[in-house]
Amino acid sequence: MEVITSTKEIESINFDSPFAFIPTMGNLHKGHLSLVKYGKENYSEVITSIFINPLQFGKNEDFSSYPKTISQDIQLLENLGCNYLFIPEANFAENLDIIKPNFSDVLCGLSRPSHFHGVLTIIDKFLRVIKPDACLFGLKDYQQQLIIKDFVERKKIKTDIVSLPIVREKSGLAMSSRNNYLSDEDKKFCGKIYSCLKNLTPSLKITSLEVLKTEAKDFLQHAGFEIDYFEIVDANNLSPVTKKTDKVLIAVAVIYKKVRLIDNIVASL
Ligand code: PAF
Repeated sequence: MEVITSTKEIESINFDSPFAFIPTMGNLHKGHLSLVKYGKENYSEVITSIFINPLQFGKNEDFSSYPKTISQDIQLLENLGCNYLFIPEANFAENLDIIKPNFSDVLCGLSRPSHFHGVLTIIDKFLRVIKPDACLFGLKDYQQQLIIKDFVERKKIKTDIVSLPIVREKSGLAMSSRNNYLSDEDKKFCGKIYSCLKNLTPSLKITSLEVLKTEAKDFLQHAGFEIDYFEIVDANNLSPVTKKTDKVLIAVAVIYKKVRLIDNIVASL
């Protein structure tokens, strides 16, 4: 694997087409690695980036303490045959015009108001620098991939946004770099978040969504989670469910021992 640390250099490479790009903030886990595996199986070359993007962190968030495991990450990427790792210069996020996303005034966008602006601004820069045929994302960040898909479509950028399944711990907890802040026991316990989502789906067609939301929130609160949000929305546009909605997103964000955890499930109505 070639490690590239200069934007100029990555811009000058002629990658073998079709090639896939996987943007990450490092501290790679099995969720990221599933994207690299998918990339290797479906594209000629895979470029992964590691960049902790300052633009997407709020004032009181964990930008400075975000886990950094670069040598371990390099080894994991090497093992999977990733072709290139791009680690941009520290000033990569400087002097960019902030892009306003659609679909950012609900769910995570409410509690993290500038988060998706920061994500979209950096993804736009990556797409302009790397010009990949495809860009791969995990569905754990459902809102993120929807926002990026919408942007790429609106701007007619010639990159496929490919969204891939959530990878979970044995307990069901969705893989996330922030799980590193939890003990093994905590990770097992936090499997309750996914159980709650799964248990609710069979009732979607027979019970009112408001009742289901209240029951789920009560369950999580009694279990010891602080609820940021628990919502059931139209999976196509994150707007309230109507008679026309055919697919819902059940999305949750909770705080457990100061760690913010998100998860979701998509279900047909
Ligand atoms: O999902 C992430 O890790 C980040 O939001 C991303 C897409 C790498 C942009 O910084």
